[in-house]
Formats: sequence, structure tokens, C-alpha cells
Amino acid sequence: MSSQQPTQHSAEPERAPAAATSTPRKVRVLLLFGGRSGEHAISAATAAGVLRAIDRSRYDVVPVGITPDGGWVLAADEPERWEIADGRLPRVEATGEDVVLPLATDRRGVRVLAPGEIPRELGEVDVVFPLLHGPYGEDGTVQGLLELADVRYVGAGVLASAVGMDKHFMKLVLAGQGLPVAPYTVIRPGEFERNPDAWTQTVAGLGLPVFVKPARAGSSLGISKVDDLADLPAAIAEAQRHDPKVLVEAGVVGREIECAVLGGRDGGRPRASLPGEIVVTGAEHAFYDFEAKYLDEAGVELSCPADLPPHVVAEVQDVAVRTFEAVGAEGLSRVDVFVTADEQVVVNEINTMPGFTPFSMYPRMWERSGLSYPDLIDELIALALERPTGLR
Ligand SMILES: Nc1ncnc2c1ncn2[C@@H]1O[C@H](COP(=O)(O)OP(=O)(O)O)[C@@H](O)[C@H]1O
Ligand SMILES: [Mg+2]
Repeated sequence: MSSQQPTQHSAEPERAPAAATSTPRKVRVLLLFGGRSGEHAISAATAAGVLRAIDRSRYDVVPVGITPDGGWVLAADEPERWEIADGRLPRVEATGEDVVLPLATDRRGVRVLAPGEIPRELGEVDVVFPLLHGPYGEDGTVQGLLELADVRYVGAGVLASAVGMDKHFMKLVLAGQGLPVAPYTVIRPGEFERNPDAWTQTVAGLGLPVFVKPARAGSSLGISKVDDLADLPAAIAEAQRHDPKVLVEAGVVGREIECAVLGGRDGGRPRASLPGEIVVTGAEHAFYDFEAKYLDEAGVELSCPADLPPHVVAEVQDVAVRTFEAVGAEGLSRVDVFVTADEQVVVNEINTMPGFTPFSMYPRMWERSGLSYPDLIDELIALALERPTGLR
């Protein structure tokens, strides 16, 4: 659709209300990263990219890390500290100084509390940028906290985040609005173990191969491609390590195409980037698995723009925007699809907080569509400042 061609962005983010002195102060952005999910390190790597690129002349940056067990700490404003380097995965450590978001609607700011110390005010935060992936971050929980605290934030709200995180409900919502998804079945806790033969029959009905996935994970964690039904129990057990609810999906034969979507400005429709393509070249990867995503740069090619005929590009962009709208996403999302040999576009998933390092597909697709990484950060903050919390 031509209305979804990438647009140039020149709008300035709204400035924070002027302080009493009437000198406009910088917008204070709280970057929230790390977190309790299996994608902790990926989130930290994203923070490294944003810390490096965000325009310090416009924004005061308050980096807050969430430790793997859920503590919030004031984090180092040092991009190199949070990078993935030589296969080393960064990790937010407890510091004994907790950051507290007051659950009040008067936006008194974020407080740092040290044991026995008088609370130190970090000051008012204009907007929170949750750079979190996976459960307790991308799933609506943090978004709910921010709604309660009445703090503006980047990205999808509570419901869209939750729907985007849960591949089961995601499919129900997308299929319910006429979007094409692969056939699947859902296995709830204990069900497979109680009746393995019947479940194996059900799965056989999907045809082989199938993909066995935790319902609520990401970065391909816990996902197996199953070519032989004898491997099904082990694949289900592996997925259950990440989530008691498991999805088994029919394998789709097609190219893996991704499309970046940005929320619309001033009531306009969401905007879609030029699509990109994932080509897994490393023979040791049966699919786009965790290693291919983050650790084996040589084993995967991210090509952008994808080499697709214009009518398929238009179809991918249309499906991406409709998927974004179907779940009620806001701010940003990456919509991942398969394009089959006969040019059918099948939605694999929507990620409401896609990988966001400068090398990740989402920023790269925007870069190729005319929006640089620092400008993309500006645009996301502008969208967040424009949007109130609460019902909308
Ligand atoms: N139904 C499917 N058919 C073919 N490949 C699939 C299917 N589901 C997943 N995959 C492969 O597994 C990868 C990860 O699956 P995905 O559902 O995107 O999980 P995640 O949320 O962890 O990224 C995909 O990028 C793709 O390579
Ligand atoms: Mg994926």
C-alpha cells in the first residue's frame, strides 16, 4: 500500500514542560533494561546501543537495570559495559542501591534508596524507554506498572504487550481478524504427560516438521524443530523449561521476511519500513535459533531491503500494519512473516519490543527506509511523549 511507504521524519520530540526558571530543561529519559527473562543479556546489549546513540544534547539519560532476580538498580552509563563482546553476555548485578518507582499519580520521580540512607531523588522522569524483552518486560507487566505510576513510556501498552508475548493468544487475535497464521495446537501443563499417544496423533495431524515453542519466550529460546515424532517428548520438555504452556506449530516452508512498524503520528495509520530478510546460511542451524541470532554472525545474513517484487513488498507492509493494528500495538513493533513460494504471506509473530541494537533488524530496516538509529530513538520518544497514559 502506498500509504505505508516510509516517511521522512523531521518533527522534534515535544519538550518537557519548562521548569520554574522558564529555561526549558532536557527531556529526562529513563532507560530500563536487563530484566528477569532469558533475554536479559540481549536487553543489556540494546541498552549499550541506545546509550551510545541517544542525543545527549536533547535528553538527560537515567539508565536503570533490572537484575535477573528482579531488583531495580541505577546502572552504569557506559555502553561498553553492556555490550555482547567475544561471546560474553552482559548482566545487571545487584548494587545494594535500589531504585523505586513511586506508585503515585503525582509523578514525583524515581527514588534511589540505599539501606539506612535518606532517599535520594533522581528527579522527575518524563518518559521511560523499556528496552526489555520477554516476560516481565515485554509482556505488559512493566507497562502496567508505568500506567499505575502515570509515567509515559515508549511502545505498546498493557494488552498489546501481553498479546504480543503470548504466541497462543497472538494467534487467536490475528486469526480472529483474518490474518494468515500457521496451523498449531496448544499443550497446557501436564496434558502431554497424561496422554502422550493422543497428543502425538494431534501433532502428526499438523504434518512434519513441526516447531515446538514455549508460548511466552523469545530469541528462539526453548524452540525445537521436530522432524521425527520420536523427538516430540524431548522438544516439549525443552519448551516447558521456559514456559509451562507450549505451542506446536506446522512448519511453514518460505522465506523469513521481517517488517518494522512505527506508530502513526497525529492520528495517522502506522508506518511500515522496507522489509528485510533473514537467511540462515550456517549448516549447523536448522532454523533461526539463539546462536544464529546472537553468537554466530557468519551463520546468518540479514539482508535489507529484501529482494522481493514490489507487489510482495506492498503485501508484506500491509500485513505488517494490519498485524500491528490487530493487537493494538503502539510505538514500535517488528512483524515477522514467511513468504511462501506462491507468494502467500503468513504471519509468524509480532514483537512489541524487537531487538534494538544498532545492528538489529528493526533499526536497520528503518535505516534503509531513511530513518537513522538516533532519529528512530527521537521518533519513539516523541511518540511516547505525545501519548497519555490511561484509557486511549
Ligand atoms: N511455523 C514455523 N515454520 C518454519 N519455521 C519456524 C516456524 N516457527 C518458528 N520457526 C523458526 O524458528 C524461529 C524462531 O521462532 P519464533 O516463533 O519467531 O520465536 P521467537 O519469539 O523466539 O523469535 C523463526 O525465526 C524461524 O526460523
Ligand atoms: Mg521470532
